[in-house]
Amino acid sequence: MEKKQKKQSGTARLFELAFTEKPLVVTSLILPVIGTAASFMPFIAVYFIIGEFAAHISDLGAADAGYMIMWGWIAGGCAIGAVALNYAALMCSHAAAFRTQYKLKLDFTRHLAALPMGFHTQNSTGKLRKVVDENIEKLEAFTAHQLPDIAGSFAAPVAALIILFAFDWRLGLAALVPLVMMYFIQSAAYGGGRAKTFIKKYQDSLEEMSNASVEYVRGISVVKAFGQTVFSFRKLYNTIKNYGDYVLQYTKAYKHSMVAFLTVLNNIYIFIMPVIILIYGGATDYAAFALAALFYLVFSMAMVEPFLKLMYVAETANQVADGIARMDAVLSAPPLKEAAEPKTADGYSVEFCGVSFSYGGIGAEQTEPETTVSGDSLSARRDKVAGLGIDGQRAESATETISDISFTAEQGEITALVGASGSGKSTIASLIPRFYDADKGAVKIGGTDVRDMSGEYLMSKVGFVFQDVFLFKQSVRDNIRAGDKNASDDDVIGAAKAARCHEFVERLPNGYDTVIGSDNIHLSGGEKQRLVIARAILKNAPILVLDEATAFADPENEQKIQEGLSELMRGKTVIIIAHRLSTVRGADKIVVLEGGRIAEIGKHDGLIAAKGVYAKMWEHYVNTLNWTIA
Ligand SMILES: Nc1ncnc2c1ncn2[C@@H]1O[C@H](COP(=O)(O)OP(=O)(O)OP(=O)(O)O)[C@@H](O)[C@H]1O
Ligand SMILES: [Mg+2]
Repeated sequence: MEKKQKKQSGTARLFELAFTEKPLVVTSLILPVIGTAASFMPFIAVYFIIGEFAAHISDLGAADAGYMIMWGWIAGGCAIGAVALNYAALMCSHAAAFRTQYKLKLDFTRHLAALPMGFHTQNSTGKLRKVVDENIEKLEAFTAHQLPDIAGSFAAPVAALIILFAFDWRLGLAALVPLVMMYFIQSAAYGGGRAKTFIKKYQDSLEEMSNASVEYVRGISVVKAFGQTVFSFRKLYNTIKNYGDYVLQYTKAYKHSMVAFLTVLNNIYIFIMPVIILIYGGATDYAAFALAALFYLVFSMAMVEPFLKLMYVAETANQVADGIARMDAVLSAPPLKEAAEPKTADGYSVEFCGVSFSYGGIGAEQTEPETTVSGDSLSARRDKVAGLGIDGQRAESATETISDISFTAEQGEITALVGASGSGKSTIASLIPRFYDADKGAVKIGGTDVRDMSGEYLMSKVGFVFQDVFLFKQSVRDNIRAGDKNASDDDVIGAAKAARCHEFVERLPNGYDTVIGSDNIHLSGGEKQRLVIARAILKNAPILVLDEATAFADPENEQKIQEGLSELMRGKTVIIIAHRLSTVRGADKIVVLEGGRIAEIGKHDGLIAAKGVYAKMWEHYVNTLNWTIA
C-alpha cells in the first residue's frame, strides 16, 4: 500500500482514516444529531404540560386535556424516535468501522509480507502484533462508538443553548458561562503538547510491557532450564513498574483539571440559579417563576451526560491518534523494491557476481536489545564465532558479513556451500529468494538480476528448506500444501512419501488432518524438517536451496531422504549447505567459505589434493567420524 501524498499526522490522520467509509460514517454522524434534538423534546413537552397546569392551577378542570395529551404524544414519540435514531446510527457506524478495520488489517498484513526480512529481524513480533491487534482495533472503537458520540455530544450543547436562548436569552447567556469554562479547562488539559508526550510515553511503556511479557512467555523453557527465574523476570518486572509509574503520573497530572471539569459540569444550575432569581425574583406570578426555575434546573442537568462523553472522546482521540502513528510508522517502512518492468529468467543457473552484504546496513533503526531469556543460543554462538575473528580476513572486513562472493551454481548440477559455523553460508542462500538484497554486486538467475524479477515470479522459481524450520499452526496437509496450493491430496501424499514423512504422519491421531501445535501434537526436529522437505518437493521449483536440510535426520532416514531428494534434484539447480561433509562429497562444485569470503572452489578430489581449507575440514570430519569414547 503506497501513500504518494504527504501523510497527515495526529488527529487529522485519525479523521482521515475514520472517514474511509464516508457515506456510512456521515450518516452515522447525522442521525445522532437529529436523535439528540429529539431527545430534548420531552423536556419541552413537560414544560408546556406543566405550563398548562400552572395556568389553570385554581381550576384544573378548565385545563385543555387535548393540548396536554398532544404534548404527551410528542414527548413519547420523540423519546422513541431518539432511541431508534441512535440505534440506526450505531448500525451504520459499526458497519463502517468493521469495513475500515478489515481494509486496514489487510493492507497492513500485505505490507508486512512485502517488507524485507531485515525489517522483521529488527522489529519484535510483540510490537507488530500490538499494532495489528490493538492499535487498529482502537480505530474500530473510535469509528463505531466515539465518532457518533462526538456528533451527538456536540449537537447536545448547541441544541440546548438554542432552546435556552429561545426561552430567555439571559438564561441562555448564563448557561453559556459554564460551557465556556469547561471548554477552557478541557483544552488546557488535553490540548497542548504535554498531553501528547504523556500519551506517547504511556503507550511506549505499554508496548514495552507487552513486548517483555511475550518474550518472557516465549522463553520460558530457557528460564526453567537455567533456573533464571529472578533475573529474567527482572526485565518484565521493570516494564510493569514503569507502566505503573506512568499511569500514576498521568492520573496525578490530570487530577486537578478533571476535578474542576466535573465540578463545573455537575453544578451547571449554580450558574443559572442566580439569574433566575434576578429575573423572576420580583415577579408576582409565582406559578410562572416556579415553572421557569423547574424547567431550567431539570434541563441544565440534561446537558451533563453529553458533556461527559465529550470529555472521554477528547482523551481517547489522542490515544487512538497515537496508535495510528505507530501503525503508520510500520506502513511507511519501504517494502522490498519491485522492478518497474519485471524480467524473467533465461535458464535457471544461479550466479553470484561480486556480492557483498552486511546485516548492519539494513534499516537505520537499531535492533532492540533482546531479553536474556529469548537470546537465541544459535545466533549468540555465531556472534561469538564471528567476533573472535577466526581468521584475519573476517576481522579486516568486520562490517561485511559476506564479501566479494562470486560463483555460479549451474543448472542440473549440485553446488555445495561448506565452511565453519558463521562463515556466511545461510546468508548467501538467503540472498537468492531476496530475503535480503546484496549491498554490492548482483545475484542473477539465468542471467537476470533477481531484483529485476517480480517477487511472485522469483518465488515460484526457488524452493528452499531453511535451517530454521517453520511450520504453520495448521494441518499437516496444509503445511505441505504451502509448497503448491493447487496440489491434489495424492500429490501431497506423494511428496510426503518422498520426504519420508508418510509413515509418521499416518501414526498421528488424525493423520494428514492433524493440526500441528494443537494439543499434545509435538513433532521431533527431524520430523519437522522432513515436513518442510515434503513442502519443497511438492513445490518442485527449478532452483532448490537446501540449508542443513537433513541435519536432524538419523543415518537411516537421511539415506532415504537423500534418495527422495535425488529424484527431485534431477535437472535442477541445487544449492546445498551441510556440515556433514559426506553429504556434499559427491557435489559437482564445492564452494568453501571462510569468514564470509570464498576460500576455494572445486570438486572433492581436487580440493583434497590442493591440501587447503577444505582438505583440513575433511580431515577433521573424518577424525570425528572415527572418534570414540575412550
Ligand atoms: N539476521 C541477522 N542479523 C544480523 N547478523 C546476522 C543475522 N543472521 C546471521 N548473522 C551473522 O552473519 C554471520 C553469518 O551467518 P550465517 O547464518 O550466514 O552463517 P552460517 O555459515 O550459515 O552458519 P551455520 O553453519 O552456523 O549455520 C554470522 O556472524 C551471524 O552472526
Ligand atoms: Mg547457516
